[in-house]
Amino acid sequence: MSFQIQPQPPARPNRCQLFGPGSNTNLFAKMAASAADVINLDLEDSVAPEDKATARANVIEAIGAHDWGAKTLSVRINSLDTPWWYRDVVDLLENCSDRLDQIMIPKVGCAADIYAVDALVTAIEAARGRSKRIGFEVIIESAAGLCHVEEIAAASPRMQAMSLGAADFAASMGMQTTGIGGTQENYYMLREGQKYWPDPWHWAQTAIVAACRTHGLLPVDGPFGDFSDDDGYRAQAHRSAVLGMVGKWAIHPKQIALANEVFTPSEEAVAEARAILQAMEDAQASGAGATVYKGRLVDIASIKQAQVVVKQAELIATGV
Ligand code: COA
Ligand code: MG
Repeated sequence: MSFQIQPQPPARPNRCQLFGPGSNTNLFAKMAASAADVINLDLEDSVAPEDKATARANVIEAIGAHDWGAKTLSVRINSLDTPWWYRDVVDLLENCSDRLDQIMIPKVGCAADIYAVDALVTAIEAARGRSKRIGFEVIIESAAGLCHVEEIAAASPRMQAMSLGAADFAASMGMQTTGIGGTQENYYMLREGQKYWPDPWHWAQTAIVAACRTHGLLPVDGPFGDFSDDDGYRAQAHRSAVLGMVGKWAIHPKQIALANEVFTPSEEAVAEARAILQAMEDAQASGAGATVYKGRLVDIASIKQAQVVVKQAELIATGV
């Protein structure tokens, strides 16, 4: 490890972030009663321009009106290139109850975007005497966002989490696809006439995970648009989990159980991790730094790998 110790991310479950448009008040009670760890009430791209003001008022009311339980409650504001974002922040923080945990800033391109929102939020919190400090989560969904991902992660102590927004990211990059995440038909390798489909989102995800882990944030996979394709969602979510992401968005309630299933370490995975820890404890008791477990090498790095699984399982068991 470097002299700089890697900071821990917020200790809370973030397996599934459920989104709903702020203009659709019928969904709020259902979202509150859902099994999602995080709720994102949306003021941005699921709300039509003529509904922005009404959605804002709906969301302010809903924050205080529903029982959100132990969920993390977040509102997605509009991006900084729109005329709406400042009023999202001002109206929200001047009027909503202290139940709000964080705001999600979409389409961030650089650290200065976070600085601007931070300055506004800080002033309102002081003026209104808000005792609970609002956290930030962001969406990396542009070429600039990915180029500046590390400075964005480090931009404010309010930063909690980062998501990859596949659709806007694809558009910003000029990618030839209209799919929101998942396998892309034309992104294939050929070997002896057989097609094989690699993952075009992989490099963006790993960049986000590395920036988040460096600065103690939660890395999250964004939306999977085709909500009739459970297996496709599962496959994408499994890849994200293997890369170090802690959860994934749901844009329809049927995706909640899928995310919770994938991002909760299975009993077998936890048992295996505990067995590795035990094998290493036994090895170390006899003075060895490495040993053989089920025919393969385990050493001190294996302890850290196993602890990732065990700690995640414990967090989920105690944190919801
Ligand atoms: N949260 C909670 N409940 C939801 C929901 C959501 N996001 N979306 C749908 N439901 C409910 C419906 O109200 C319906 O409830 P009912 O059985 O009591 O009638 C049930 O789940 C089934 O819904 P369904 O008919 O399959 O979907 P729909 O046509 O009503 O809505 C969408 C489909 C995609 C428009 C809707 O799911 C939605 O608005 N998703 C969020 C979009 C969003 O926020 N995007 C921004 C982030 S990318
Ligand atoms: Mg987007």
